[in-house]
Amino acid sequence: MSPSAPKSSQLLAIAVHGVGATEDLLNEVLGPRGFSPVVMVTSLAELTSQLRTRTPTLVLAPIPVGAATSEFTLFESELRRNPGTAAIGIAPNKDADTVLAAMRAGVLEFLVAPVPPAELAAAVSRVMSHVSVPSNLGRVFTVYSAKGGLGTTTIAVSLAWSLAHRKSSPRVALVDFTTTGAGVRVMLDLQPLYDLGSVANKSGTLDTDFLRSCMLRHDEGVHVLAAAEELDAVDPLSVATAGRVLELLRQQFDFIVVDTDHHFADQTLSALDLADRIVLVTQADVSALRSSQRSLGVFSRLGYSPEKITVALNRRTDRDRVAVADAERVLGRLIDSKLPNDYGTCADAMTYGRFVQQQSPASPFVPAISALATTLSGDVSIDANGSNGSYGPSRLARLFGRKQ
Ligand SMILES: Nc1ncnc2c1ncn2[C@@H]1O[C@H](COP(=O)(O)OP(=O)(O)O)[C@@H](O)[C@H]1O
Ligand SMILES: [Mg+2]
Repeated sequence: MSPSAPKSSQLLAIAVHGVGATEDLLNEVLGPRGFSPVVMVTSLAELTSQLRTRTPTLVLAPIPVGAATSEFTLFESELRRNPGTAAIGIAPNKDADTVLAAMRAGVLEFLVAPVPPAELAAAVSRVMSHVSVPSNLGRVFTVYSAKGGLGTTTIAVSLAWSLAHRKSSPRVALVDFTTTGAGVRVMLDLQPLYDLGSVANKSGTLDTDFLRSCMLRHDEGVHVLAAAEELDAVDPLSVATAGRVLELLRQQFDFIVVDTDHHFADQTLSALDLADRIVLVTQADVSALRSSQRSLGVFSRLGYSPEKITVALNRRTDRDRVAVADAERVLGRLIDSKLPNDYGTCADAMTYGRFVQQQSPASPFVPAISALATTLSGDVSIDANGSNGSYGPSRLARLFGRKQ
């Protein structure tokens, strides 16, 4: 997220430059109503493309005369796919056909440019009374390690199970953003009809219903979005599509756990940037710690606050060559979670395609993962620096020069 990006408690508004209300006026009217500084775009087409990846509470769109341009038709269909977004239309005059077409397109208020401040304020108030402000969006936990084999997938899968078995029975999604063929799909031995490959093909028109149809409800109560089956479909999601997937899941699930690759594939970038918490998996050996140290450096340069990151030391044993205190010294921070080594259980769970908790409820790994789930689910949302990133452009994507 950019430094000026909103906190998760702030609402997003997007307006088109020259729409008939200046940026200053918009901020004056919207600021006191809980909006972050308005995002200005240059054209209706750009507004439409923003709607593909973001879910603003309010958009201010110029309505072409007669509302009969192809640009407007595209805007209209994008608006329909975003039931949580309210639209105010602004045109040079109140031509009856234009007003009617705008209203049919789902525009809630119609104003004539230049818009007097009082009229804008009144229209915004009316619109806001229709809008259900999403106050309880789900939280994204992205599990990541800089190198393979440290237990990222094992922890993601087990964490999802543990969250789903909280007393409050939260809705939990487990998303397999890996591209190596060794993620959740293999760990739980799933053969879903649809997967992220189908999502990638749909990218531009992705909506909640379609996404749900691509998910599989595991008997253990976790809803899984599996990785694409074809291994040659490496890196199948763009940053924008991956972001859209996570935003849509936030609207339907209380917790979303994401398993990721160990390199910065596009979907990894999105999952890190949009995460409320990153679980950085490491082990008590020199090579794992060095790579985790590097990851922490990257996260810090990206401006993630330390609170956004939870360090999990996996496969902990009494015989570890590196003591926890030394590991913490290398990482320059405390280790938040220690997960014991239980090779037999983890290997059997993988062999039989089960959750670790199903395989061996008495494993010492189980209460440790449960404690991690408690820490992650119990704490409050953090600020813009480490933020949940709902509305921000992908900082990682920018850093790595990826297209949004
Ligand atoms: N706490 C643990 N104790 C014992 N073995 C583990 C533990 N966590 C993971 N493993 C094993 O380590 C191997 C790599 O785990 P995996 O989750 O696939 O790592 P990654 O996703 O980081 O590549 C697997 O064989 C898995 O069963
Ligand atoms: Mg893995």
